[in-house]
Amino acid sequence: MPEHTKVMGKEWAEARRAANVARLGSTLATALAGRTGITFELGCGHGHWLAAYAAAHPDEFCLGIDLITHRVERSVRKQTLGKLDNVIFLKAEAVEFLEALPAAVVLKKIFILYPDPWPKKKHHKNRFIQASSLELLAKRAASGASLRFRTDDADYFEWTRALIEAHGAWKLKEGNPWPFEQTTFFEERMKAKRDLEAERVP
Ligand SMILES: C[S@@+](CC[C@H](N)C(=O)[O-])C[C@H]1O[C@@H](n2cnc3c(N)ncnc32)[C@H](O)[C@@H]1O
Repeated sequence: MPEHTKVMGKEWAEARRAANVARLGSTLATALAGRTGITFELGCGHGHWLAAYAAAHPDEFCLGIDLITHRVERSVRKQTLGKLDNVIFLKAEAVEFLEALPAAVVLKKIFILYPDPWPKKKHHKNRFIQASSLELLAKRAASGASLRFRTDDADYFEWTRALIEAHGAWKLKEGNPWPFEQTTFFEERMKAKRDLEAERVP
């Protein structure tokens, strides 16, 4: 590909990304007006888990995001059918979402359930959990916030555990049970699950 085409492609991607962040920022400013803390699910899929969690925790305001339009639409349907006024679902990419989140709003609880495991070594760079994403999450998390991660993939579990152990802003916590059980769309297809909890430390 000619160099000038590559440069134009990169510029176009950056412009599109900036437009996404700006649009998301304005949606979030309206949707979260007056709120200071939220329970956040990253990669909510069809919304099974967060819709049920929100129904069981009326005192928390919950927000779920996913990249895929039809999954978000199914999530929104659960919110509507359940007449849940404490949860919203948005189509958003996680890093763009974290950049667009209004400064007044912090993440109090973060849930990541069955993220894409990218099992091949050459694809590990695509895993959502990286030192850089833990840093971004830490920047938007309240002190004492919890990060809960659940996967069926043993390698992704150890990968996440090791990155959290090495990260100064997160501390692994042992012993607390998974706080809320509701089978997710992907969980139904899985045989095993492992989960961990980390706390945002000052
Ligand atoms: C394997 S599915 C699990 C969905 C759901 N948590 C469940 O257990 O049924 C992973 C989900 O994460 C979403 N996802 C992956 N990367 C994402 C990103 N960077 N931002 C937002 N969502 C993402 C995918 O679209 C997909 O729906």
